Amino acid sequence: MSDAVFELDDVSYAYPGGAPALRNVTFTVAEGESVAILGANGSGKSTLLKLLDALYFPTGGEVRAFGVALEEKLLQDEEWSFCFRRRVGLVFQDPDVQLFLPTVRDEVAFAPEQLGIPRDEVAARVERAMEELGISALADRPPYNLSDGEKKKVAIASVLSLSPDVWLLDEPTASLDPRTADWMVRFLLSLKERGKTVVIATHELETARIVADKVCVLSEDHRLAAVGATEAIIGNREILLGANLISDRLAITKHV
Ligand SMILES: Nc1ncnc2c1ncn2[C@@H]1O[C@H](COP(=O)(O)OP(=O)(O)OP(=O)(O)O)[C@@H](O)[C@H]1O
Ligand SMILES: [Mg+2]
Repeated sequence: MSDAVFELDDVSYAYPGGAPALRNVTFTVAEGESVAILGANGSGKSTLLKLLDALYFPTGGEVRAFGVALEEKLLQDEEWSFCFRRRVGLVFQDPDVQLFLPTVRDEVAFAPEQLGIPRDEVAARVERAMEELGISALADRPPYNLSDGEKKKVAIASVLSLSPDVWLLDEPTASLDPRTADWMVRFLLSLKERGKTVVIATHELETARIVADKVCVLSEDHRLAAVGATEAIIGNREILLGANLISDRLAITKHV
């Protein structure tokens, strides 16, 4: 048995009829580790998280979760799929993709209800999750007319109520105001303190610096440009410039 939560072995992915979104990516995520996937727009971060969540399957190479290769056939096995969905939760980049029920409370209750957690326990978890996210006052509102930041919090609460061991978060600080973004960073650290495994996709270096033990950098041609300890990667200007994660904007002069 390995203590790796995820092992990616030469993983490639191309969308049907599309150009490659990931090419030959190899890295591991250990239990309890916090990993940041960094990359420019379109480099493949969201695609990678969907592969880890077994929503997509590699078109080349292999993704193993808890030592088992993720294949479509395996996910069709109800018992395995049930167990996997209880252990791994994904917060989507765009909450509109994730939220579809009439009220916030229904939304936060959905995953634990679907995954067979007893009713009383679900009700308690829903109240706790909404409280932790500061959205109890929104409980009876329809998610579709909330602000983007509020929707993001509902999306997070709907994973928190499930309490998975493994959290996948796509751009967790995007569209949040500074105080809420700071809250989110603290929340990510608290997941780590609770022993959770955390994988975030972001292009914010500061968030990765605070939260991640390890960083994987995707290049604009969808390859793994670098992987290593956070400080070593984030301190390497050449890697960051090469992957379009920092700019030379200060060198642009203003013409009046
Ligand atoms: N449904 C799709 N069909 C075809 N191509 C897609 C689809 N979704 C993404 N792509 C392509 O796959 C590549 C990787 O996209 P992905 O969304 O994973 O990037 P990303 O790193 O998450 O970008 P961003 O920072 O903008 O969120 C891009 O070239 C994108 O155009
Ligand atoms: Mg994305």
